[in-house]
Amino acid sequence: ARRIWLTRHGQSEYNQVDRIGGDSSLATPGEVYARCLPEMLLERLPLVGLERARIEEIVAGVAAGTGGPAATSAPDPNADPADPGPEPVPVPVSVWTSTLRRTIQTARYLPFPKLRWKALDEIQAGACDGLTYEQIAQQYPDEFMARCKDKLRYRYPAGESYLDVIQRLEPVIIEMEREKECIVVVGHQAVLRAVLGYFMAKPLASIPTLDIPLHTLMELRPRPDGTMDYEFIPIP
Ligand code: F6P
Repeated sequence: ARRIWLTRHGQSEYNQVDRIGGDSSLATPGEVYARCLPEMLLERLPLVGLERARIEEIVAGVAAGTGGPAATSAPDPNADPADPGPEPVPVPVSVWTSTLRRTIQTARYLPFPKLRWKALDEIQAGACDGLTYEQIAQQYPDEFMARCKDKLRYRYPAGESYLDVIQRLEPVIIEMEREKECIVVVGHQAVLRAVLGYFMAKPLASIPTLDIPLHTLMELRPRPDGTMDYEFIPIP
């Protein structure tokens, strides 16, 4: 059966100092999470019908740093015809990231084909980008209060609101529904709140405060009636 996995990027340098937005790299705990992620996902693959031996082959490829099926699926023009190299592994999984460093780095070790979506980038905080919530409260007290009052509709100066994010995610969600294969979405807090809220049919007003913890894999399983089951997968 098809699965959709959602995860935030690993902890970033900005997360460590409570700054929002930006395009920082992963901090050390985030890098550790990125390295755990392939095994966590490969553990789930028997559920989508992949044979154990194939999975072990991919895990070995990841451990050896050869990249697994993503690296072997394209024909190598310099390959020795007498030695075609490892057989490409047909894995029904693709990985979608945003265009920001922290999601690309989190997906780096996943041995699946990857796609970058600008529409998956984090909520744009405009004038507040790069600040901590404390700094926003000091420098822009009216903005801070307005956001507390109506987080769903509040739009950052020269930035976005949750409603803007929900709207720009529409093409991504249409593709997620159309796609037959499994998808791993490596995203951001606000964006994943919107995606999860949509698939779990949450009330719009609850979306800006849904719990999307760092270093956690969320698994969505379509039910026959079109709704989804949802589970947190712990780190092994
Ligand atoms: O703090 C991480 C982060 O992804 C920020 O970049 C973003 O502005 C924020 O979370 C979104 O969460 P909230 O809407 O609760 O501020």
